[in-house]
Amino acid sequence: MTLHDTISVRPATDNDWPALELLDSVAFAYHPVDADRTLTRALTRTEDVVVATDAGTPIGLALDLPMDLTVPGGTQVPVRGVTWVSVAPTHRRRGVLRALFAQIHNNIGRTGVPLAMLTASDAGIYGRFGYGPATVSTSVTIDRRFARFRDDAPDPGGVVLTDQATAVTRLPEIYERWRLITPGAQNRPQPQWDYTFADPEEHRDGKSGLHYLIHPDGYATFRYRSADDGMVAVVAELVAVTDAAHTALWRTLCGLDLTQRIEATQHPDDPLRLMLTDYRLPRTTRRSDDLWVRIMDVPAALGARTYALDGDIVLAVRDPYLDAGGTFALTVRDGHAECRRTDATAHVTLDLDALGSLYLGAHRARTLAAAHRIEAASDRDLALVDMMFAADRPAVLGYGF
Ligand SMILES: CC(C)(COP(=O)(O)OP(=O)(O)OC[C@H]1O[C@@H](n2cnc3c(N)ncnc32)[C@H](O)[C@@H]1OP(=O)(O)O)[C@@H](O)C(=O)NCCC(=O)NCCS
Repeated sequence: MTLHDTISVRPATDNDWPALELLDSVAFAYHPVDADRTLTRALTRTEDVVVATDAGTPIGLALDLPMDLTVPGGTQVPVRGVTWVSVAPTHRRRGVLRALFAQIHNNIGRTGVPLAMLTASDAGIYGRFGYGPATVSTSVTIDRRFARFRDDAPDPGGVVLTDQATAVTRLPEIYERWRLITPGAQNRPQPQWDYTFADPEEHRDGKSGLHYLIHPDGYATFRYRSADDGMVAVVAELVAVTDAAHTALWRTLCGLDLTQRIEATQHPDDPLRLMLTDYRLPRTTRRSDDLWVRIMDVPAALGARTYALDGDIVLAVRDPYLDAGGTFALTVRDGHAECRRTDATAHVTLDLDALGSLYLGAHRARTLAAAHRIEAASDRDLALVDMMFAADRPAVLGYGF
């Protein structure tokens, strides 16, 4: 697609901010309040924002933020998180996103980080740019009135109800311990915490302010919403460093006696349903992608994580968008990997977005092969890749950005 010659792309300046806020709020259907502005300005260097203009007027933007991402095995990888991807409704589908992304990925390439990542408003957009869905979340609704824990489920206790002043001092430290062991979770800078605690009423969709439950190794935050049949507790976050914290927090949530239902999001392997007498009680209402990963540097990214099984595998990776692909030998010993370019014959061939989907362990190679997203030279090669890429813990996005 060729851009109209009045459209061009440049770095933002401070004067652009009002126009950028307008573009983003119209694109994402919200009305910005002071807390939104404070968060964005605190996290963003204006020169990292890429603006598209038509005859000088801003009509699109995208920006990328520095983050540290935990990968399987617990290594912290420096990444860039792409966000605020917005094109004016007056200028859609004429190549503005493509032009913005060319500049954004050029900028990201220059930082040398091995990964770029984003969360997607629409799942059909980002595969063409080499991003694959890399964490999965499910939404569950639990009819709390019938929630009974099995007799053999532990009852660790240790949860206290706290006010916000206490939460401010306790949550960041617990989150930090959790994100360091959780693939897919990022560091959470102070402005992001300030936004969580500012909890702007305008963005609550009529729900209550946040309530806080704290365990020494975990926390849950939730809101109340009134529904036709009674009160609903909507869990905003449940962070558990240990299994005991997870159980104790869920037992406490299930003790909210005047609440009909609890709504929460979980990774697909959350153990809650296995601890209840009724396995079906957490009813899955939605299954969706969360974090999307684009590998910028295959040897650095594959060398950063650990693997569930030792082995030698040659991967042929296609990246028609940016040419980060090629043929790579992955050698894993004692779980640790070395990855380098090779001329050897590939055992498996796949697109870069499919490698992004494998990377944090949330999707299996077998499933991708069944979907014709991975071609393996033999069943044995596929079985090896399938087992190697399993993660030590389920991948979970730390927070949306
Ligand atoms: C999504 C959005 C940024 C696309 O911008 P755009 O300038 O219209 O996109 P482009 O014209 O550059 O399209 C680039 C490619 O993506 C495709 N595409 C764009 N939007 C798409 C969508 N919503 N679903 C599927 N494909 C999409 C185009 O067809 C085009 O494909 P091709 O070049 O491979 O043929 C824009 O519609 C927008 O701002 N939407 C609201 C906010 C939003 O959803 N932002 C994304 C946040 S994660």
